[in-house]
Amino acid sequence: MSTPPRVVAALVLERVLARGETLDEALAAQAPRAAERDRPLVQALAYGSLRWLTRLEAQISALTPRNDWRRDPLLRGLLVAGAWEAQGLSTPDHAAVSEAVDAARRLRRGRASGMVNAVLRRLRRDPPALPADEATQYALPAWLVEALRRAWPDDWPGVAERSHAHPPMTLRVNRRQASREAALAALAEQGREADPGTVAPEAVVLRTPCAASELPGLAEGWLTVQDEAAQLAAPLLDPRPGDRVLEACAAPGGKALHILERQPEASLMALDRSSRRLQQVRDNLARGGCEAECRVGDAAEPERWWDGEPFQRILLDAPCTGTGVIRRHPDIKWLRDPADPERMAAVQRALLGALWRLLAPGGRLVYATCSILPAENEAVVADFLARQGDAAPAPAPPAGRPTGAGYQILPGEGGMDGFFYACLERQSA
Ligand SMILES: C[S@@+](CC[C@H](N)C(=O)[O-])C[C@H]1O[C@@H](n2cnc3c(N)ncnc32)[C@H](O)[C@@H]1O
Repeated sequence: MSTPPRVVAALVLERVLARGETLDEALAAQAPRAAERDRPLVQALAYGSLRWLTRLEAQISALTPRNDWRRDPLLRGLLVAGAWEAQGLSTPDHAAVSEAVDAARRLRRGRASGMVNAVLRRLRRDPPALPADEATQYALPAWLVEALRRAWPDDWPGVAERSHAHPPMTLRVNRRQASREAALAALAEQGREADPGTVAPEAVVLRTPCAASELPGLAEGWLTVQDEAAQLAAPLLDPRPGDRVLEACAAPGGKALHILERQPEASLMALDRSSRRLQQVRDNLARGGCEAECRVGDAAEPERWWDGEPFQRILLDAPCTGTGVIRRHPDIKWLRDPADPERMAAVQRALLGALWRLLAPGGRLVYATCSILPAENEAVVADFLARQGDAAPAPAPPAGRPTGAGYQILPGEGGMDGFFYACLERQSA
């Protein structure tokens, strides 16, 4: 027996907002309980609720002065999802409200069903005005609004607004198997309109996103789903035939596969500290017909896994706050806290310092994050360059604004995710 979609959406939101799971994890755990035909609705309810959380909660609060629902994560999830459905989706009124009331009973929240009914009807008929504060208006946590304002005094309102946009579905063509023109023609034959990317040479942007499973090129290995900003890492790394290359934080493997697609004669080690996620790297490489040495290990502790042979190329796609990809992962806004940028920066500094010692003289290290906060980007690299006498900045990516030590792409610029790149070369002694 399948579970009704609004019940599943409340369970997903409870996992994210109360237990701190990512939206991907929560959907993977809960969405299979819904009937297959209902899963797109579960997804739409969960994404919309997390995109607009502060706004939806402000409206619910205005209608429920006691705010008891805030202390009950399942009721909170149900109300927020209902509020989003009332204003953001086109479900007919009577169906959506009565399904939400029924969901309250199924979640053993029968005593709240009258309140759910009243709040959702009112939101459809006559939604209360929103408070004017920026956190509510931009649907971002207040600390992040402040951090964006400090980082990007001229651009932050646009950055905040674009973090709600629905991102494009961008593909990467393996040009050893098909030219970009051939890929565009093959997509057109399937009735899919697409455009070449603006900066990454292998990028193709679909005008209408679709389920990845609908694209035959994916299973066949000549297409990969990857944002255009992420497609800039491999060309910047630019390995030569015979180079030893390290992808130090490799899972799920999008960039590892790209590196080998571009340079099959490089010898790649794909490292990740998560063995579960490293399996995704193996699967991705196998799909693309590429081979690498896949190792579980902590990149900050090379003495545990490094054989002492230097690498000519190292990609450090560092763990970060993910503030550049909020439009794809709206849960990020609510899973991070104000201490996270500095906490991540300490991790990033340790990784950069540890990996630099593995780089051959004349070799190149690309530092990348999908963060837009300078603490994790410019500050980490500038500080490293100031202390590391044999490190010098090297080629620039074809996009992004110079920040001093690196280049920042802000979310939505050129249609891309927010990304930071710094390319460093180790001077020969
Ligand atoms: C931004 S993702 C990498 C994405 C990947 N480069 C790609 O293109 O598919 C960060 C990854 O770093 C891994 N990670 C985090 N800290 C690590 C560490 N100390 N050593 C190795 N891997 C780490 C995480 O498990 C996660 O898979």
